[in-house]
Amino acid sequence: MRVRAAVAAIRLVGAAQAVRALGAGLRARAARRAELRSRAGERARTPGVLLEARPCPGGGVLRFERAELEIRVTVRGAVFLGWDAAPEPSHALADGCPAADVRTQLEPDKDGGWQVVSERLTVAVSRHGAVEIRTPGGQWLRREQPPRWWERPGGAGGGHWTACARVAPDARFFGLGGRAGGPRLRGSFRLWNSDPGGCFGPGDDPLSITMPVQFVVADAGCHLVFVDNTHDGRVRLTEGTEGDGSGHDRPGRCELRMTGGPLRYWVLAGTPARLLQGWSALTGAPALPPYWALGHQHARWGFDTAAEVRRVAAGYQEHGLPLAAVHLDIDHFDRHRVFTADPVRFPGIGALIGELRAQGTRVVSIVDPGVAEAPGDAVYDSGRAADAFVRDPRGRRVRGVVWPGRAVFPDFTAAPVRAWWGGLYAERLEKGFEGFWHDMNEPVSFDPFSAGTLPLDTRHALEGRGGDHREAHNVYALAMARAGYEGLRRLRPERRPFLFSRSGWVGMQRYGGTWSGDVATGWPGLRASLSLVVGLGLCGVPYSGPDIGGFDGSPSPELYLRWFQLGAYLPLFRTHAARGAGRREPWEFGPQVLADARACLLERERLRPYFTTLAVEAARTGAPYVRPLWWHEPALRRLRDCEDAFLLGDALLVAPVLHEGGRRRTVVLPPGRWYDTRDERAYEGPGPVELAAPLGSVPVLARAGSVLPVAGPEGGVELEVWAPAPGGSGGGSVAVGTPDGWRPARTERYTVRWSTRGRVRVERAEGGRPSYPVRLRGV
Ligand code: GLC
Repeated sequence: MRVRAAVAAIRLVGAAQAVRALGAGLRARAARRAELRSRAGERARTPGVLLEARPCPGGGVLRFERAELEIRVTVRGAVFLGWDAAPEPSHALADGCPAADVRTQLEPDKDGGWQVVSERLTVAVSRHGAVEIRTPGGQWLRREQPPRWWERPGGAGGGHWTACARVAPDARFFGLGGRAGGPRLRGSFRLWNSDPGGCFGPGDDPLSITMPVQFVVADAGCHLVFVDNTHDGRVRLTEGTEGDGSGHDRPGRCELRMTGGPLRYWVLAGTPARLLQGWSALTGAPALPPYWALGHQHARWGFDTAAEVRRVAAGYQEHGLPLAAVHLDIDHFDRHRVFTADPVRFPGIGALIGELRAQGTRVVSIVDPGVAEAPGDAVYDSGRAADAFVRDPRGRRVRGVVWPGRAVFPDFTAAPVRAWWGGLYAERLEKGFEGFWHDMNEPVSFDPFSAGTLPLDTRHALEGRGGDHREAHNVYALAMARAGYEGLRRLRPERRPFLFSRSGWVGMQRYGGTWSGDVATGWPGLRASLSLVVGLGLCGVPYSGPDIGGFDGSPSPELYLRWFQLGAYLPLFRTHAARGAGRREPWEFGPQVLADARACLLERERLRPYFTTLAVEAARTGAPYVRPLWWHEPALRRLRDCEDAFLLGDALLVAPVLHEGGRRRTVVLPPGRWYDTRDERAYEGPGPVELAAPLGSVPVLARAGSVLPVAGPEGGVELEVWAPAPGGSGGGSVAVGTPDGWRPARTERYTVRWSTRGRVRVERAEGGRPSYPVRLRGV
């Protein structure tokens, strides 16, 4: 009875929000208590003494008294280390484990240890199982203590394990998926995809995308560590401190505690660009979005009728504002049921979509995984027939509560279920939807008696191996993205799918991008937005962006504009807000904000060829569009510590205003000459400069010598070339491809230099004159 009453109450969306927030608080407390309880009386098993080292292709197997470590260097330089564990199966790896690099040698090291020497790093293992990762020059990057497996008295395996590593005192940590309190990470972070239960700010953790990926940047070099384990866990990152040179340095520490799953991980070392290249080779190239998805998009939870959608789209037209896409949230569904349309409030939805398309605006549909448990509903009935929904250990269907009320959840970790689900997008395509917005896929359940998600003992196919939600939870959304992506490719093979997902895991970039989730309206939320995009980019997910203006409440005109100015330089440029929140259309904040937002939109349109080039580059090399300032100079500490500006590709440095009342700001420049794109004044890096940031604009600087493909006044591509510093040179590239098809993009590379006659010369790298008109700036 109580359950039924709660479910009825939760049907009211407002109540659901309240339950969601309350439940999140209670759950956090219960989780802390459970963790403390589970530690009582445990004993640790360590590897013991090394007994034998056996070479094998790519490295070797080291047998200890109580454990075995396999080290395998693979062809593109990524190194696998697995304690008592095989490298496969893995949800993260794009094509399984890459081939071993057979040139690698296993050699004896000092004090009875062994080392595996490869081109990009050396892995040294002590006779007690400590592991040291060194650069080819012999400098250490990471020192790992022997791991510990925790066991309960009586030999019962708790299944959890801990690992602790040291890094250089100067090292900085990044990554771990999407974290609101970064980009530089310090403190304790959970590895469990979670709906924060309301809007979040920088202090909230975990969020929808957690990844066991550490990107570590230090003077000695950068490295990336990926623990290939989908279970719940916690990482504590402590930066080191440097003494005064008298030997009182304290190294940085990473402590990892996993609740189960294998102790296996990958290490990559090299420059940031090389790391991302190796990372995308291992976990998959980012999907190239259709180019329209690089334009401005407007979403809203609370478009209650087709008329309201028309009104907003018409507003964009009337005010001369480009609009690439409108997103329809759960309001357009029939009783919030996925893959439906409300026949009364959205009659003939296909006609609405066609009308918008004729104006140049695409329509994107939200897709939630929770299927209403409603016999007669086509999705529910076909899912039941396909036995698609997850069950508990006793074979009963697991139920939760989401927007449509009582819901069941597809098991996306089963290939036949993915095939069934992928087929459901046919209904969307027939209606004319062109993009897909996966939501609530941590997965979320509002059931007040649940832990905010599915019960941990829920059974999953896990690609035929079988297992439970402990292992499947973090990859639920990844598998859902795969289902959607593969379905779309089958249904509409000639087009590149556009899909972005709130939750995900390592490898999600293979299927699409993501967005911030429900970021709180406020200046801290604005800062969190940037942190998420930078962090995700370093974890291989280049396409993301926030809800501009924040999800809840009403931003002040100033906050809205500053968010808009940031969003205009991020890959996903989307306004969105919750039902009941204030408006987010640019004309709702007065004429000045409208004029300034219009300037952002027009600049974004002008930069579209550059965004296209960055998208192609991301798909080819894994390099994110949005890069930390230290991308090219990771050894410059001042850049490493800068969290409020970013590089957009190689050519631009964007310095958004992230604080109320800011009208000037310090911008830390990387080395070289930089031009303020507003007045073409030159500044010399490295070092800080003070620049004006009046309400109407934020500093955007162009690197001297860069070639920026932009839309010219006639609409075609034009090369904006920023003069190299005297005696210097530069270059850049332009990628042009099919807007949404599969024909590979054509990339032209350009070089820029001063001629002996004192002219700036722009040439195609393979020789010949530029294919596009050139406009020289900064001279
Ligand atoms: C979740 C999403 C949000 C969406 C809402 C209703 O809170 O994060 O973007 O508007 O659900 O579907």
